[in-house]
Amino acid sequence: MKTLVIYYSRKGENYVNGSIVPLEKGNTEIVAEYIRDAVGADLFEVETVKEYAASYMACIDEAKKELKSNARPELKAYLDDISEYDNIVVAGPCWWGTFPTPVFTQLERLDFAGKKVFPLMTHEGSGLADSAKSLKRYCKGAEIGPGLAVHGAEAKNSAALVSKWAKENLT
Ligand SMILES: Cc1cc2nc3c(=O)[nH]c(=O)nc-3n(C[C@H](O)[C@H](O)[C@H](O)COP(=O)(O)O)c2cc1C
Repeated sequence: MKTLVIYYSRKGENYVNGSIVPLEKGNTEIVAEYIRDAVGADLFEVETVKEYAASYMACIDEAKKELKSNARPELKAYLDDISEYDNIVVAGPCWWGTFPTPVFTQLERLDFAGKKVFPLMTHEGSGLADSAKSLKRYCKGAEIGPGLAVHGAEAKNSAALVSKWAKENLT
């Protein structure tokens, strides 16, 4: 079984257990690397041409506007072919209850027929929120497997949890 993790993760200020702190590495990136370490997955990072505001509060507003207008932000690089993979984990932070819109920019370009897709969200309380619903909509033809929610503030300490989920679902 071959697994690809498509992830978005934002460095900079973030909300952690009730306070705003600067993060050197995004929470989702930490978790994506734990999946790679557990099952030997490949990683693809979704990166936007226009970076989001470093300020957490400003980013919250940007993200809300994008979601409302169903925006598809331009990416630095696009993945066009996932034919060699059996499993695709779509990983990202929970932004207003779903993945950041640039994740959808990428997903809409891919052919998911015959693939198994798994939602993974890091969050500050919303859990998996609408992630599975969004994947059903944007990963046409995929079967949606069990998701994993990781509390963002616990991302660094989630290696065992993530590894167990990855080995159960992706091998
Ligand atoms: C724009 C924005 C919107 C967010 N919306 C939510 C939300 O609706 N629910 C939630 O639990 N956490 C929310 N968060 C917190 C992030 O999901 C959480 O900090 C996540 O672990 C960040 O991952 P990252 O460092 O990989 O970007 C939001 C954060 C940002 C920046």
